[in-house]
Amino acid sequence: MELDENLAPTDSADPADVGFWEKHYSDGAPPWDQGLPAPPLVRGLEPFIRGVNMLSSGATVLVPGCGFGHEAMYLARCGFCVTAVDFAPAAVDGLRRRVAQAGLELQVIESDFFALPEIHRGAYDMVVEHTCFCAIPPDRRDEYVQVMSGLLRPRGLLLGLFFDVDDTMKNGPPFPTTSEDIHQHFESIFDIVTIEKPHDSFDKRLGREWLACMRLRDSNMITDPLHAGYSNHGATGP
Ligand SMILES: C[S@@+](CC[C@H](N)C(=O)[O-])C[C@H]1O[C@@H](n2cnc3c(N)ncnc32)[C@H](O)[C@@H]1O
Repeated sequence: MELDENLAPTDSADPADVGFWEKHYSDGAPPWDQGLPAPPLVRGLEPFIRGVNMLSSGATVLVPGCGFGHEAMYLARCGFCVTAVDFAPAAVDGLRRRVAQAGLELQVIESDFFALPEIHRGAYDMVVEHTCFCAIPPDRRDEYVQVMSGLLRPRGLLLGLFFDVDDTMKNGPPFPTTSEDIHQHFESIFDIVTIEKPHDSFDKRLGREWLACMRLRDSNMITDPLHAGYSNHGATGP
């Protein structure tokens, strides 16, 4: 990640506050927005699109901190039933406009993902996140993991692309996310199935990201056929 993506030096507002993000969207060109879905996430989704793990077309996917929603729109095009959430009104408006122009069907919600209504509890087969974990203040990381796990169905999946920015960016966002951070915060609730440094990151982020696929740990095992492939049928891959 280049310094132009570090928002801290020029912005003294609190990233926990929607105004911090809204300002960047209202300015028109948020520095983190790459204009297309992140290639490592597109690749990471391939097994699920092929249905290898029974996450067949029509499965429910949540995209938290969706921004302009490039991943959300990609997922909708692939046939997933997508809910995209962001608390910045200008991001949500921008995504809704693009969705309408593209004639896609996906639900776009303006909300703090820490405060989604109860109806979302346990509603998702998968969470796909891109630069969301690194956007929240580090003291809320465990809360984030708890919230995401509560939104997933038993043995649901989280596919995330995390920034591993260097220590000079401690005053994020983005707040650095090392592989140790991922293990530390997610492993009490999720099994980390795969974690890798992607070879196909956007050029300026190459070598500074982690792609992780995790499965919600649930000792109660299978509750519906969609999840049967994850447990005792010898599923391969993520
Ligand atoms: C770095 S941006 C990433 C946006 C998008 N995922 C992308 O990669 O282009 C982080 C996003 O998370 C959103 N966000 C941060 N905290 C949030 C919260 N508590 N609830 C909902 N959205 C939040 C911000 O508004 C912003 O759109």
